[in-house]
Amino acid sequence: MATSCGSAEQISTGGTSVPLKSPRRAVTSDSEAAAGTRRYYDDNARIYSEASVWLPLNDAFEPFVARLTAGARVLDLGCGAGRDLRALSLRGFRSIGLDVSLPLVELAAQFSGCPVIQGDMRTIPFEDGAFGGIWASASLLHLRRREIPSAVREVVRVLASGGYFFSSVKKGAGEGPDSKGRWFTYFEEDEWLAVLADVGLAVVQSSATQQASGTLEKNVSVDWFACITKKR
Ligand SMILES: C[S@@+](CC[C@H](N)C(=O)[O-])C[C@H]1O[C@@H](n2cnc3c(N)ncnc32)[C@H](O)[C@@H]1O
Repeated sequence: MATSCGSAEQISTGGTSVPLKSPRRAVTSDSEAAAGTRRYYDDNARIYSEASVWLPLNDAFEPFVARLTAGARVLDLGCGAGRDLRALSLRGFRSIGLDVSLPLVELAAQFSGCPVIQGDMRTIPFEDGAFGGIWASASLLHLRRREIPSAVREVVRVLASGGYFFSSVKKGAGEGPDSKGRWFTYFEEDEWLAVLADVGLAVVQSSATQQASGTLEKNVSVDWFACITKKR
């Protein structure tokens, strides 16, 4: 009979130690990671909305919209509570939001007055070339690292030729759930630029910024990369 001994990470049987699958090393599937993230936003939608909708726009917002054709159709991918969606709409763009969290979809629609659909950015439910611009602020970072290249290919698919794509991710290394169950994948700037270049996007502007984090953690400063790219 196996009995545990010493460390909870191994069992000893007949003098031979057999490592157990440690919780810290347990494999998290893509769907488990996505479920943890979604649960967090579903459960905290209202407080997240109150904390995020009046935050200042990203410094890259003006340079991004300045490049778009007037009245272009723009997708806010992972739009959260709709802060950027509203700003895009106020600038005259035909703006549509997409988010996986239904409570946030409803709040974003209310706040922005724009159409917002519930969907998953890994399989964007729009036609090829449907958008002149795609804005993904702090959203792709919630996918597993191995899922991100195909998600960015989805972005390229629904972006029109000559269209612009904004993305922002957190600086750092590794990936994993935070204390609240949200999955985060971190990048160094050259890694993020390589992800974008690998799908054929041309970098127009890349900047590092320090900003208040995810809105619920007060007084936490986080380094971000924000990039504007163009589909050739
Ligand atoms: C950090 S918030 C950013 C929200 C907003 N873009 C902003 O900058 O305030 C991340 C958003 O991505 C959404 N999200 C996470 N995983 C997603 C997925 N697989 N598909 C679509 N949206 C997702 C979350 O529900 C959440 O609204």
